[in-house]
Amino acid sequence: MNEDKKNIEQKLEKLSKLKSLSEIGGGIDKIAAQHKKNKLTAHERLNYLIDKNTFREIDALAHHHSNSFGLEKQVFLGDGVVTGYGEIATRKVMLFSQDFTVLGGSLAEQHGKKICKIMDMAMKIGVPVIGLNDSGGARVQEGVISLGAYADIFLRNTLASGVVPQISVIMGPCAGGAVYSPAITDFVIMVKDTSYMFVTGPKVVKTVTHENLTSEELGGAETHAIKSGVAHFVAENDIEALDIVKTLMNFIPQNNAEEPPFVPNNDPANRIDDSLNYIVPSNSNQPYDIRNIINSIADENFFFEVHKEYAQNIVVGFIRLGGRSVGVVANQPAILAGVLDINASKKAARFIRFCDAFNIPLLTFEDVPGFLPGSDQEWNGIITNGAKLLFAYSEATVPKVTVITRKAYGGAYDVMNSKHIRGDLNYAWPSAEIAVMGAKGAVEIIFKKEIDDAENPDEREQELINEYNDKFGNPYIAASYGYIDDVIEPKYTRPILIEAFNLLQNKVDKNPYKKHDNIPL
Ligand code: HXC
Repeated sequence: MNEDKKNIEQKLEKLSKLKSLSEIGGGIDKIAAQHKKNKLTAHERLNYLIDKNTFREIDALAHHHSNSFGLEKQVFLGDGVVTGYGEIATRKVMLFSQDFTVLGGSLAEQHGKKICKIMDMAMKIGVPVIGLNDSGGARVQEGVISLGAYADIFLRNTLASGVVPQISVIMGPCAGGAVYSPAITDFVIMVKDTSYMFVTGPKVVKTVTHENLTSEELGGAETHAIKSGVAHFVAENDIEALDIVKTLMNFIPQNNAEEPPFVPNNDPANRIDDSLNYIVPSNSNQPYDIRNIINSIADENFFFEVHKEYAQNIVVGFIRLGGRSVGVVANQPAILAGVLDINASKKAARFIRFCDAFNIPLLTFEDVPGFLPGSDQEWNGIITNGAKLLFAYSEATVPKVTVITRKAYGGAYDVMNSKHIRGDLNYAWPSAEIAVMGAKGAVEIIFKKEIDDAENPDEREQELINEYNDKFGNPYIAASYGYIDDVIEPKYTRPILIEAFNLLQNKVDKNPYKKHDNIPL
């Protein structure tokens, strides 16, 4: 071998050695420990998420330059996070995957810089950012530099919000201020039993509030899916979490200047469902599951529900109609009669704003008795929080279609994408009841004296309720004012909706110029 070739071979060998070192992260013992916890490694997660052979790593050779507290003896190539780009179903994404095997995935200067680099690139080229989080938080040894690195990420999360989709998967610890990066992103997916998120952990909580809670109870996946609403999805394991990302990607665009992907399928646009004519019980106090209607009208009967376990009195998620991605918001009569409360308002408002920011048309199914009464709701701000929902619908300029299946009472009628707040096409089923309030409440207000004075008050009240229902318990007065565009036979809902969204596909609507709005927070 001549000298020149030997020299080159040595250099190639060195490169290969460095890359292998980087790939192995914290070493085989740490990888085994990670597997023992039912967790995949950072690379394994990326390999599963990304189309085969499309991942290109960036900064695999970056490392910290600290010699605080013995760190100089713990230099790992990659610095505890794998970053790069790849494709999901042939669409480009920027990614980071924290490596718990390296110093517990803790975040410091280089680790933070790597994440910022891919976020900056994502913004310039207009592609989603997907973060796989598994970290002990700020690297204690690097002190305030670690805090600065977090803030650099928070700033980018904020600037990217509404520009490119951001998805966070929590696959291990996520504690302290670290939680605020996922919290700013659009979707948070948590893995059961192996992930948790909290601002202060169980030990501090015990000292301060004397509550004795496990990490899982305080900030596990179920807790955040059901109680706080921080988690939009819960997965049984790493693989399921990554599958959720893939499905979600299917419905969302690359950035705010693009449309979501159009995915044709074999479900006929003119498919009708006779059962829809009979799905709403004639007794208007009887519940039914709104998801049966959503599933029925969706392409291939597939509804990808978001935030499933939180505020179940409202349902949100994605469907396709004629191949087009549509965001669905629907009151759920099966839970609390579909009433709007604080949590339901917040849940739906956030979803609507995501869809509007990313050009995803909105479909609303309405069956709502109104806002939930009571001191608990009033004192905790149903006014401000209900206003979020009203605000979100009002400012949204994407195509907006409503179907009133039953109750549309009071303020909730206005809020749920009424014509008055720029609903483009508003339909009602014959079972719709569009009124200021339900018959009993209304009669008790307007005929109180007449009922009290009647020979048989109960009988008189029932007569008046029947009269009120005849007059207002239908969609025809609203139709006579053009407040709804048509009363439709339920079985034709799918073809009518597909036609509506086709009609609206090039809709242009604008809000007045402003620095930003001031949504009631
Ligand atoms: C440096 C860390 C670390 C950290 C973990 N490690 N967290 N190193 N800085 N923040 C290291 C451990 O020393 C250990 O190294 C290895 O990672 C694995 O950690 P273990 O404790 O052995 O793992 P486990 O038992 O699974 O416990 C994981 C853990 C625990 C619950 C995350 O490590 C922990 O409580 N870490 C500290 C969490 C924390 O308080 N972080 C700061 C939060 S405040 P060796 O060499 O022994 O394998 C914060 C502020 C952000 O993040 C501010 C933004 C504004």
